[in-house]
Amino acid sequence: MSLRQSIIDHPERRYIMFGGKGGLGKTTFSAATAYWLASRGHRVLVFSVDPQASLSDIFERDIFGQGAVEITHNLWAQEVDADRHIRVYQDEIRRKILDMYGFDSVPEEIEQYIQAASAEPAMEESAIFDAVVDIVVSGKFDYYIYDLVPLGHALYYLSMAKVYDEWINKITKLREEMREYEEMVSRLKREKDTQEDQILSELQYIRGRINASSQILTDKEKTAFYFVVIPEKMIILDTQKAAGLFSAFNVPIAGYIVNRVVPEELLGQNIPAYLRHRIEMQKNYMGEIRQTFGDQVSAYVPELERDVTGMPMIERLAEIMYGDGNGRTGRPR
Ligand SMILES: Nc1ncnc2c1ncn2[C@@H]1O[C@H](COP(=O)(O)OP(=O)(O)OP(=O)(O)O)[C@@H](O)[C@H]1O
Ligand SMILES: [Mg+2]
Repeated sequence: MSLRQSIIDHPERRYIMFGGKGGLGKTTFSAATAYWLASRGHRVLVFSVDPQASLSDIFERDIFGQGAVEITHNLWAQEVDADRHIRVYQDEIRRKILDMYGFDSVPEEIEQYIQAASAEPAMEESAIFDAVVDIVVSGKFDYYIYDLVPLGHALYYLSMAKVYDEWINKITKLREEMREYEEMVSRLKREKDTQEDQILSELQYIRGRINASSQILTDKEKTAFYFVVIPEKMIILDTQKAAGLFSAFNVPIAGYIVNRVVPEELLGQNIPAYLRHRIEMQKNYMGEIRQTFGDQVSAYVPELERDVTGMPMIERLAEIMYGDGNGRTGRPR
C-alpha cells in the first residue's frame, strides 16, 4: 500500500513516527508529512527532543525550547529542550522538600543527591519522556509527528516505561531516606503524626501517566511507525535487526520508506561511468529491499539535487511522497 493511502486509510493513527539510523531522512520525512497533512486541513504538530535542533534547520527558524510554534497554517513545530526540563524537575523536587519539611534551604546531602540523580542518563530520558507525555496527552492536534533521534535511542525510548520505573524506584529510595528526616523534623516540632504520604501518591500519579502515555505511543490502533532505509547493505541489515526488536516490544511497523534512490531513468541518458556504477550497485540493494521488506515498502523517494531545507523544498518533497497519482516517483514500484 502506498504511503499516501496508508495514512489516508487510517485516520485513527494520529501518532506518526519515522525511525531509522542516523542521517537517513527521518527529520526530512517528518517535516514533509506534517506539511502534507496540514495542507489537507489537519492540525499537525511535528516535534522532536533532539538537542541538535534539526527542525529549526529544516524550517529555517529557531524554535528550540520555545514550545509549539506555528510554521504555516495548521502546521506547528516544537523542539523540546531536555536540559531545561531537567532543571525544572530539580526545582520541583527542591520546592517539595522545602514545603514538606519546612526547611529554609535544601540540606546539603539532599542537594547532592538531586545533582547526582540529574546526571544519570535515566533522568534525562525520563525528563524527555515526561515532555513527550505532556505533548501527546494535551490532545490539541489532530496529528502528532514525532521526529525521532537515531535508531539506538528510539529503541531505548520504547523501553522508556522501564527506565521510568527505575527512576521511580530511585525516588522511592529517596523517599525512604526522607522518612528519616521527616521523623527528625517531627521530633523537633514535637509533632507525633507525620503528614499523608504525599510523595508516594505523587509517584502513583506519575506511574499512571506513564502507563497512559506508553499505551498511546505503542498503541497499535493510533500509532504509525515507518522505518526509513536507503539502498545500502549495512542499512538494510541494521533495519532488519531493529525491526525484530520492535516486534519484541510489540510495536507495529506501518511500513518502510526507501530514501535517496538515484533515479534509474538516468541510465538512459549519457551519464558518467561513476554514476552508472552507483545506479547498478543500488539496483542490487533495491532487489534486496524488495525481497526483505516486500509489500511493506510504502514509498521510494529519489535522491534530490540538493538537501531539503526551507518550505519550497519541503513542499516539493511532500508532493513526491504524497502526490496522488500523476507522479511517477514516491509510489511503490
Ligand atoms: N531524498 C533526499 N535528497 C536529498 N537530500 C536529502 C534527501 N533526504 C534527506 N536529505 C538530506 O539529508 C540530510 C539528513 O536528513 P535528515 O536530517 O532528515 O536525517 P535524520 O534521519 O533526521 O538524521 P538524524 O538521525 O541525524 O536525526 C539532510 O541534510 C537532508 O536535507
Ligand atoms: Mg533528525
